[in-house]
Amino acid sequence: MEIHLIAAARPNFMKIAPLNHALEKSGWAKPVIVHTGQHYDLNMSDVFFKNFKLPDPHIHLGVGSGTHAEQTGNVMIEYEKVLMGQKPDLVVVAGDVNSTVAASLVAVKLGVNLAHLEAGLRSFDRTMPEEINRIVTDSIADILWTPSLDGNENLENSGVALDKIEFVGNIMIDNLVMTRDEIDKLSIYQDFKCTKGEYGLVTLHRPSNVDDKDVLEMLCRKLLSIAEKIPLIFPVHPRTRARLDEYDLSHYLEKIQSVHLVEPLGYLEFMNLVFNSRFLITDSGGVQEETTFLGISCLTLRPNTERPVTVTQGTNRLCKPEDIENMVDSILNGSFASGSIPDLWDGKTAERVVESIRKRQL
Ligand code: UD1
Ligand code: UDP
Repeated sequence: MEIHLIAAARPNFMKIAPLNHALEKSGWAKPVIVHTGQHYDLNMSDVFFKNFKLPDPHIHLGVGSGTHAEQTGNVMIEYEKVLMGQKPDLVVVAGDVNSTVAASLVAVKLGVNLAHLEAGLRSFDRTMPEEINRIVTDSIADILWTPSLDGNENLENSGVALDKIEFVGNIMIDNLVMTRDEIDKLSIYQDFKCTKGEYGLVTLHRPSNVDDKDVLEMLCRKLLSIAEKIPLIFPVHPRTRARLDEYDLSHYLEKIQSVHLVEPLGYLEFMNLVFNSRFLITDSGGVQEETTFLGISCLTLRPNTERPVTVTQGTNRLCKPEDIENMVDSILNGSFASGSIPDLWDGKTAERVVESIRKRQL
């Protein structure tokens, strides 16, 4: 049976890699990687194929960047051409990026079975483009694989038939488990002359944090004052890099030596920095989950999260910009809360997904 795995942007590669490997191992399924081209820089795309030992994409749609309508529309136009030629038995989309919803719409309209990996997550904040992508994808998918039980509850509340929903756990953690030994061999913090456990790691890319000049400037001011207490390593997402340059804030941030602005890192390098960090400051979805799994303090610069289990059970805390210095102080004083690992975040999600496909006899 042929299964299209839709890969598009950085967080998708982490989600399709374990599934690709598990499907290859099954003996009865042929995974076909379809790269939409939403992310295309070497360090936003190719590096992950190497990190996760993925084959080159079998199909590349090459859509690139654009407005929401351009990007979604271009993926639909290009992917429809592919499916008009040859229909797989199943299309698997992951996460909540524009390519996720675009490929989903194409598949269901052409009568191809659609599965959503990481279904059911909700921030209940419709100003987030990802929330719209989640709602639409979940409402049209035939199979909904959830990473946590809040996902099941959200889907049930929105009227999704129960037999479509399966709690399979968090596939991002499969990757972490799969690459842990390789990650452990590195000491990337030494490249920044930092000491193990004595630096903070920063990632920011949400439009609400980086696209508005006043907000980004204020966040930079906060980071600078934190960096007076503890060094910060900040791999800068291309959206954020463009805004920092446009608002002339890169130089401002780099004016003290303890702020290390770097290009986006490969997964192994980035996770090695996570493993050895004192805390994370982020607005990433995936990072909230990885820090919860590892028990590392995480401050999420957002008013809400679609991953509530990382707060109720894990080591993630939502944080207003004005509170960030106090919250970092509480981490440095050792008074930050500890957490536990959510159910089925065990490195075996891909196996459960393969079993789910097998038993459904599509
Ligand atoms: C996208 C996803 C977001 C996800 C994030 C992960 C949507 C709506 N957003 O946001 O949910 O959390 O990816 O990283 O799908 N760019 C480059 N090189 C690249 C890719 C992007 O320079 O390889 C620049 C372009 O200027 C582009 C901008 O980054 O316009 C934004 O890229 P885009 O994919 O539209 O959104 P992200 O902010 O990356
Ligand atoms: N990540 C990475 N290199 C970096 C920053 C992040 O490999 O420089 C990884 C991170 O570990 C996580 C994933 O990228 O697994 C999350 O991607 P991102 O934050 O871009 O997207 P989101 O999860 O917010 O949609």
